[in-house]
Amino acid sequence: MFTPAPIATADKPSLYAELAEQARALLAGEHDLIANAANFSALAYGALPEINWAGFYLFDGTELVVGPFQGKPACVRISLGRGVCGTAAQRRETQLVEDVHAFAGHIACDAASRSEIVVPLLRADGSLLGVWDVDSPRPARFDATDRVGMEALCEAFMDAVDRGAGT
Ligand code: SME
Repeated sequence: MFTPAPIATADKPSLYAELAEQARALLAGEHDLIANAANFSALAYGALPEINWAGFYLFDGTELVVGPFQGKPACVRISLGRGVCGTAAQRRETQLVEDVHAFAGHIACDAASRSEIVVPLLRADGSLLGVWDVDSPRPARFDATDRVGMEALCEAFMDAVDRGAGT
């Protein structure tokens, strides 16, 4: 069983660095996408302060479909270009939303969510796997440091995905 060590730091870059290291250890040796996505979301949800949802939307070739996550039940399907997730997927660029109420087209899954970060997940061949979405009940919970840290964390996940791609 993998028991993540408690991350005892209030310093965000260190927190993300430790979290990415734990994610790499957690996903090492396993290629199953759903298993890795489930464990990854559980790890991040337990480690990141002030969040109320963390999980995946996976691209099925047409739209985004909710994947493994932690938090309240969420909307299942999101079209490319819709909401924060669909925008991140379509533009292939991280969306950092300080106030979800000010984001035109935001899809409210949990009414408690006030800010959000969504990172697009691209395979090594450039194709879209989906997005990684984290919500917070605190406005402006995520800043540029979270963007860098969350993108590095997602790289740890995508390395495991790409490792499994040839098997
Ligand atoms: N708020 C997202 C939808 C997903 S939930 O937050 C889990 C969006 O606007 O895309």
